[in-house]
Amino acid sequence: MEAPAAARNPAETELTVTSPEQMRDLGRRLAELLRAGDLVMLSGELGAGKTTLTRGLGEGLGVRGAVTSPTFVIARVHPSLRGGPPLVHVDAYRLGGGLDEMEDLDLDVSLPESVIVVEWGEGKVEELTEERLQVRIHRAVGDTTDEVRRVTVTGLGHRWASADLSGLAA
Ligand SMILES: Nc1ncnc2c1ncn2[C@@H]1O[C@H](COP(=O)(O)OP(=O)(O)OP(=O)(O)O)[C@@H](O)[C@H]1O
Ligand SMILES: [Mg+2]
Repeated sequence: MEAPAAARNPAETELTVTSPEQMRDLGRRLAELLRAGDLVMLSGELGAGKTTLTRGLGEGLGVRGAVTSPTFVIARVHPSLRGGPPLVHVDAYRLGGGLDEMEDLDLDVSLPESVIVVEWGEGKVEELTEERLQVRIHRAVGDTTDEVRRVTVTGLGHRWASADLSGLAA
């Protein structure tokens, strides 16, 4: 039996991704939903595919420069090549738990004009905005190829309350 509409969470979707290429494609589809002011929080263990997803996102947004795992840089700005919002890619892995270093990045200043994607941002970026898209990536249990990922996308706050995320599964 189908749950009543009110009981369903319209801003959450779960999908399975079976290769890095598919993860990149998911990033491209995700980009279509994003606009300036959006914050995307990516979680998942080391090597889960957060940067791979962000690469597709950058392609979908049409920004300059390849998205990589920064060695020394914590935040990198990729300007749009077509008049859209820049992508700010943050890898907070090396940031301490405190909010001070995070504040030095002035993400609150850039957020209104940018799409900000943060890896390892839990406990660090939540105070930027209550409206955010959370993407959780998990390795599938028992996957011998180590290429299968379960991805849960959840929209939080007013911005995502009526968003239709079902198209991400395409
Ligand atoms: N389904 C998949 N989706 C994404 N990456 C995959 C998948 N299957 C295998 N991989 C591989 O896993 C690795 C993911 O690396 P990636 O840098 O994207 O992870 P990450 O979550 O950003 O890691 P880190 O926490 O170190 O930043 C890549 O080598 C990629 O080729
Ligand atoms: Mg990464």
